[in-house]
Amino acid sequence: MQSITLTRPIFPDQIESLKSHCDLTLGSKQATYSEAEVIALLNNAEGAIITLRESINAAVLDACPRLKVVSNIAVGYNNIDVAACTARGIVVTNTPDVLTQTTADFAWALLMAAARRLPEAERYLRDGKWQHWTLNQLVGKDVHGATLGIVGMGRIGGAIATRAAGFGMKVIYHNRRPSAEAGIATLCSMDDLLAQADFAVLVLPYNAETHHIINAARIAQMKPDAVLVNIARGGVVDDAALIAAMKQGHLHSAALDVFEGEPALNPDFLTLPNVVLTPHIASSSEATRRAMAQLAINNCLAVLAGKPALNRVN
Ligand code: GLV
Repeated sequence: MQSITLTRPIFPDQIESLKSHCDLTLGSKQATYSEAEVIALLNNAEGAIITLRESINAAVLDACPRLKVVSNIAVGYNNIDVAACTARGIVVTNTPDVLTQTTADFAWALLMAAARRLPEAERYLRDGKWQHWTLNQLVGKDVHGATLGIVGMGRIGGAIATRAAGFGMKVIYHNRRPSAEAGIATLCSMDDLLAQADFAVLVLPYNAETHHIINAARIAQMKPDAVLVNIARGGVVDDAALIAAMKQGHLHSAALDVFEGEPALNPDFLTLPNVVLTPHIASSSEATRRAMAQLAINNCLAVLAGKPALNRVN
């Protein structure tokens, strides 16, 4: 039987089923693995099924010479040095499509929560502060009829755009190339998007080019009462710059599912009542997380069986 390492537990029945196909090594640590721990887990493996928390770099690959496939349980794969894998003939796979609709749903949950101050309102009530109904209590920002700007119009961006029709929104987007969503959304420059959007949603891949693409200057370009939503990766936003701008009263609010250096986050976020914070759960419905794990398993098993991967990245 071929050796597969699964770096973190997935749903128990999926682990049992995987065991019947391979000689399985299962990582069980909750905390982030050191590089040495990743190597210890993978150095005998032909297949690696990993989460976005494991960094697969050239040093790891050099220490794991049997690897044939690195299967990420995520659509984003910035945690993997794809070029280094390609140079060693290692297949890299990800889990697109199965998470598109769930992730788009969650972008809307964040957008609505920030616009209508949902966490703040709930805290107010739970803290026993609701003594009287008043006309101007926790007034928020309207979503319907506003302009939605989507940065990164891939599958998830398209699914977010589709949902905007129900709110009668104008949808603009910025992408390296025009997208199939052109019928429901208008392509524009990043400058125009930031200047026009009432709600800016980030859903672009993270790489050297998109690192801190939303920096102090870009944040300053946004409308003073705009809402920023990030479901992409922490590094696309300069968190310190966002905090500095919001401390000055710029932006209506922000909603963030991802952070630089997560699971740690800049503690200043906790001091801003108009930031909605969630722990990287945009794809986390039971059905979708199961589907992602299964797709990652299927990708790994396909490559080890000499068949084409279902979702090959390189
Ligand atoms: C989650 O962030 C993913 O990339 O799937």
